Parts: sequence; structure tokens; C-alpha cells
Amino acid sequence: MEEKYKLVYKRLEAMVSMEHDLIANMANVAALLHETFGWWWTGFYRVDGESLVLGPFQGPMACTRIPFGRGVCGTAWERRETIIVPDVEQFPGHIACSSLSRSEIVVPIFKDDAVVGVLDIDSKELSAFDQTDAIWLEKIVALL
Ligand code: SME
Repeated sequence: MEEKYKLVYKRLEAMVSMEHDLIANMANVAALLHETFGWWWTGFYRVDGESLVLGPFQGPMACTRIPFGRGVCGTAWERRETIIVPDVEQFPGHIACSSLSRSEIVVPIFKDDAVVGVLDIDSKELSAFDQTDAIWLEKIVALL
């Protein structure tokens, strides 16, 4: 796990040093994470006024807008912190874009101390994410 994250981080660090476009970089972050770890859904939502709007992702079609404070994504935005959900059925207000998602991690992305988006990853397995994922994914989104 750590080894995979180290390699992914190195590749993404090199990529963002050569490209400044946020959408292009988000697209490749989603692609590389998804391919490396084989998750069910890996992607971004960007802050757009009072809601999050769907950004680059890999996986099945997803909800396009999530209001501030709603679902796991909107809650991570409101709390300004990473949220790990071992069982989505136990998270009040979880938004089920796909009924196959069982666990989830959402990592906020900061620019000048404001949340500008979130990285949302869903797994078909229960308890797929832990603190190791949180630490590495926070490092990865900080590259953006
Ligand atoms: N489950 C998320 C919604 C986004 S989709 O899973 C891609 C949530 O509750 O925020």
C-alpha cells in the first residue's frame, strides 16, 4: 500500500510540475489512482457557489451537484477535514450515487485556506479506507 502510494505520488509530482491546468491534473490524478488501486469510483467535485459540481472522475456516472453540508462530500467541505466512512449505510445523509458503494473517503482540497473541491473515492468493499489512505491522499491533493 505505502509502496504503491509512493510511486503514485512521484508520478503525480512530476506531472503537476509540467502542467498547471487544474482540470487536466485532476483528470490524471483520478485516472492513476483508479487504475492503481482498483476502486469503484474515483473523482473530484469542485466548489461552485453553494454546491459542489462533478469534476474529472473514473467510474460510473455520478450525481452532478451536492449542496454544502450534504452527503459525505458536502460534510467534508463544511468540516474542512477528511472523512472516512467504513459503511456508507451508517452515515446519516449519505448520497447514494451508486447502490454498490459500501465505503468511502472524502478529502478536501485547499487553496489559500479555502476549500475549492474534494477528492471522493468509493469502494464496493466495507472499510476499504484507513489513516494511511487519508495521509497519502491529502499529500496528493496538496499537489494540485
Ligand atoms: N456518496 C457521496 C456522493 C458522491 S458519489 O458517491 C460519487 C456523498 O455522500 O457525498
